[in-house]
Amino acid sequence: MPLWYGGDHNPEQWPEQMWAEDVALMRRAGVTLVTVGVFSWSRLEPSEGRYDFGWLDRALGLLADAGIGVDLAVPTASPPPWFSLAHPDALTVTRDGVRLTHGSRDTYCVSAPAYREASLRITRVLGERYRGHPALTMWHVHNEYGTPCHCDHSAAAFRAWLRRRYGTLDALNDAWTTAFWSQRYSDWEQITPPRATQYLPNPAQALDFRRFVSDEMLAHFREQRDVLRELTPGVPVTTNYVMAGWASVDHWKWSREVDLVAIDHYPSGQGMAAAEQSAFAADLARSWAGGRPWLLMEQATGYVLGPRVTPKEPGEIARHSLQHVARGSKGVMFFQWRASRGGAEQWHPGMVPHAGPDSRVFREIRALGEALKRIPAPPDGPVLDAEVAILWDEEAWWAVQGPGLPSAEIDYLSAAEQAHRVLWRQGVTACFAHPSHDLTACRAVLVPSLYLISDEAARNLAAYVEGGGTLVVSFFSGIADEHTRVRLGGYPGALREVLGVRVEEFRPLAGPVTLTDFGAATVWSEVVHLHGAEAVARYPGGGPAVTRHRFGDGTAWYVSTRLGDSGYARVLARAGLTGSGVPGVEVVRRRDLVFAINHTGDEQPAPVRGIDLITGDPVPGVLRPGECVVAAREDTGGPADPRAR
Ligand code: GAL
Repeated sequence: MPLWYGGDHNPEQWPEQMWAEDVALMRRAGVTLVTVGVFSWSRLEPSEGRYDFGWLDRALGLLADAGIGVDLAVPTASPPPWFSLAHPDALTVTRDGVRLTHGSRDTYCVSAPAYREASLRITRVLGERYRGHPALTMWHVHNEYGTPCHCDHSAAAFRAWLRRRYGTLDALNDAWTTAFWSQRYSDWEQITPPRATQYLPNPAQALDFRRFVSDEMLAHFREQRDVLRELTPGVPVTTNYVMAGWASVDHWKWSREVDLVAIDHYPSGQGMAAAEQSAFAADLARSWAGGRPWLLMEQATGYVLGPRVTPKEPGEIARHSLQHVARGSKGVMFFQWRASRGGAEQWHPGMVPHAGPDSRVFREIRALGEALKRIPAPPDGPVLDAEVAILWDEEAWWAVQGPGLPSAEIDYLSAAEQAHRVLWRQGVTACFAHPSHDLTACRAVLVPSLYLISDEAARNLAAYVEGGGTLVVSFFSGIADEHTRVRLGGYPGALREVLGVRVEEFRPLAGPVTLTDFGAATVWSEVVHLHGAEAVARYPGGGPAVTRHRFGDGTAWYVSTRLGDSGYARVLARAGLTGSGVPGVEVVRRRDLVFAINHTGDEQPAPVRGIDLITGDPVPGVLRPGECVVAAREDTGGPADPRAR
């Protein structure tokens, strides 16, 4: 099966005379799939219950005639102005109590009955109209779910969710520690979403609200998915997750509900940092997909950074794309096909830039289309072998996003990124796992600042080490239970036994200190007592900083401070985790193929032999700066991804 190639195509933004030209250009570029209609609700339903499908019929007809598939969107991410005016109660209310106005996108409350009804109506009408359409390849529900609302509809739904979770008010009061600051609830009706309040909010309430928002949006997705499954059985239904700094939903939970995991990836760094982030995002997506294929639904031909939008350097579009394909993406998709001439994202890069097809970007897009034709899509089943797992849990991340922690510099994402980056630089392909997943097949498990951990997950980690595993735990892990309550008796309560340490005090650092080994430490330090573990490195005052503990047949390491990348890499090396990679030369073995990507500006010895699928020629002895090759693996077989379910 060939890879999908394409992007968001928004014909409604362009005069109809251009559509055929666009489709011809798509054919020149080798486009095989486009996402249509993500933000087209106001065109499809110009007033309540009155539909205009003529334009979409014609747009889809042109695509079908050209043999281009359509990932048809259900446009619920952006209700039309008439809807918001008719149902002001369905507009988002922020934490501060501001009711947003129509004028951007995502101005809805997912708990508002009018919005839920309107979403279902447009979904059914679209499903009925386009079932059996020759271009229909996949359904794309909504867009990047992630808009919380704090209105009264949300409050009612939140209370219903809490009743299901806790059963009794006593249980909720206990879980939320409402004895503190006189917050005890004596009636369910007293409970609201976390809204603007005088000083620090209740952390357990805030965390439960994040869980609720994820579940509530999932309920909305499932309603639409079920309509589409009923009308078009066999057509996969997906939605695109936002990656990187915005953990809007519980992706492990969501990934059980989508037919295909799909992600949008926009790196926040450039150059090597962007390559590292692409690998991170792709490994995460594959892990959410249970180790199986998934889809890169959106990326950009340029960098969309906070302070600036700037082109990717020559060759970067292809390199980032192949990183995703190597890690199991079934295709390479962009936002968007043609850069808009107006509207809020008119400066967002496209596959066809404002300059038109006579441009470097479009030439690179065409060359990438040619290359992708020669690389098969990953077959169903485990994509690759990844022996090292990094624990990933959005609940634990949400729990450290609140105020009031002992250091404002604790950052779960950057700890997870560091673990991944250090492995990536050594050529070790990692996967991600939930703390309660079966880890027995993993050679090692890295635990990046995982503040919150359930009893079940703690037992899972202990059993993993006892059975012979290698665990590397970073500071501020295993501190709280699932209600953000501190586990008493010495930190890190949930992991004390397996780590063989007892931490008496946290001592966040104002500046760097130098350890006896592993270099400088920043942000955090602890008063660690050894209870079976041995000190491998110490703080300047002599206290243990990095420890090692034999536990059962395995070993648990504890890093009680933040190390730099090279220090962390040295800890991993001491724990037996080294790779043979050349920094900046990425090698990924995907089933029977090996992808080699030279992210450096220098020639590098080619790490593979054989025929390059992209050029059809033997792989030369060296990779040119920025060059990518894809060759057949010489050593097929071997263990499957331990996380593949
Ligand atoms: C995505 C979104 C697209 C577009 C893009 C711009 O997050 O799904 O609709 O806004 O960002 O980077």
